[in-house]
This record gives sequence, C-alpha cells and structure tokens, in this order.
Amino acid sequence: MVSLKYYKSDSPLQDIHQTIQEDGCAVMTDVLGNEALDSFTNELEPYLSAAPKGRDDFTGTKTQRTGALIARTPMCREFVMDRRILALAHEFLGPHAEKLTLNLTQAVAIHPGEGTQMLHRDREAWGTNIPRSVEPQFNTLWAITDFTGENGATRIVPGSQKWAWDREPAHEQILQAEMPKGSVLLYTGTVLHGGGENKSSIPRLGLIITYCLAWMRQQENQYLSCPPHIAKDLDEELQELLGYTQATYGLGYYSDPEALPGEFDPLVPELALGRGPRKRERFNIDQLAKVT
Ligand SMILES: [Fe+2]
Repeated sequence: MVSLKYYKSDSPLQDIHQTIQEDGCAVMTDVLGNEALDSFTNELEPYLSAAPKGRDDFTGTKTQRTGALIARTPMCREFVMDRRILALAHEFLGPHAEKLTLNLTQAVAIHPGEGTQMLHRDREAWGTNIPRSVEPQFNTLWAITDFTGENGATRIVPGSQKWAWDREPAHEQILQAEMPKGSVLLYTGTVLHGGGENKSSIPRLGLIITYCLAWMRQQENQYLSCPPHIAKDLDEELQELLGYTQATYGLGYYSDPEALPGEFDPLVPELALGRGPRKRERFNIDQLAKVT
C-alpha cells in the first residue's frame, strides 16, 4: 500500500532524507507561518496578476506561472535559503556533485476548471542523457494556499523513482499531496508527478523551488532572471546558488569583454559582483545538526 509520509518541520532531517530516498517524496508541514505566507503573496501579486495562462496541455490553459522570484520577491530568497531544506538538498545531491545550484523558482496558480497535468519526471528537462544512477535534481513545492483533493493538490506516485522509465502507474498508486498552506512537498527529479484537477471555485497557489547539480545547466537561466546588478546586493551564499561561482575548478569562468590588455583573465564569477570567492564548507545534514 503506497502512502505519502508527512513530517513536522522539526522532525529529524535524517528521517525525512531516508523517506525521500525510499519513496522519492515526503511532505514537511509547518514550514511557513501566516505572516510569511501573506508577505510572499503580497510580493508576488503584481507579477502573478500580470502572468499569462499556459499555452498547452502541459503548462495548462487555466494555469498561470511566473518566475525570476529571487529578483522579484525578498521572501523567496529566504525560502531558497531555508537551512532545513538546503541541508536535505545537499544530502540528496551531494553524492553526485561538489556543489548544488538553484534550478528554478516558479509560482504556479491553478485556476478552477483546470484539468490534470500529465504525469512526468522533472529530470526529463535534460533528456535521457543523465544515467539513472545519477540524481540530478531536488525539488520543493511550497503550499501557499491549502492543497486539497478538490483544488488540484499535486498528484504523485511514491516509489516510482525506482521504476522502469516507461512503467505506467495503476490508479491506486497515484496519490494527491494534500497539505495545509505553509507545508512543502519534497520530491526528487525522478519521481512521477503532475498538477491536479482544480474542481473548486478558487485558485490553488504553489511555489516551486528546485535545485540541481551545479555542473548542469539550470532550467531557469539565473544570469538573465537575476542579473549581476541585482545579484550583487544579495547574500553571498544565495549568489553562489544562483550560479555566481565556479561549479568546479574552471567550470563557469568568464572573461570581461571590456578588459584592458594585460588584465587578469579568465575571471571567477564572483568578480562580476564586486568580490572574490569566499571560503566555504560543504553543507549537509550533519553540519546543520552541529550548528543548531
Ligand atoms: Fe513537474
């Protein structure tokens, strides 16, 4: 019998990590309070209200999406930097890369009358070039409104991250991630999932924040969504998550197109923000336990 496991946000992270490894997903409740939810909703409103509906079955013709949320909403910066979720992301992706990076930020409002989105694996964005033994992506879906069976709570198939690529789930294996607002669905890039049908009379609002291995190309181009003139004022760790650091030695350098002859070249990305690289420690669940 498949089930979706729920954890309070102060649960041992090792337990949540283990469930993500086994089921490909887990829900963390009580991550955000009403104040944070209201602040984010207010910051998002001018951008979401102007966002167009989708243009096909996948993006949903009654669904609005908008991104660039690091540049646009200070609250999203805090969400991306949540220590518990970052520790889980590092723990999950750590075996496959030295560093992780922010893959995308996307608010999704599913309006009444929207049908179900096709089940998919988010890693398909990179095609089938990445071996199955490599987990490229760690995903989070933040419930900004309640997620209910009626209003389009995300459909998910626990355990499907271990299935053959073309295996179809039985009806009873497809669950819905019902969760109160302020909860976060954690799921891997390999587990099957899709948006639910909104049979209610009000929109269902979620925020997707995903991380990927730093040697991969990010789905949302963060250098365009959060260019240097905005990124230079952000927290240094957040700058690095955006990609303003080398993923490994020599991966992600640049050359200043206006540099004078004889100036040092190539350059590390941090210099585009007016600083040098900072010394950093690898960050994981054990380290978080030591500092809290
Ligand atoms: Fe997805």
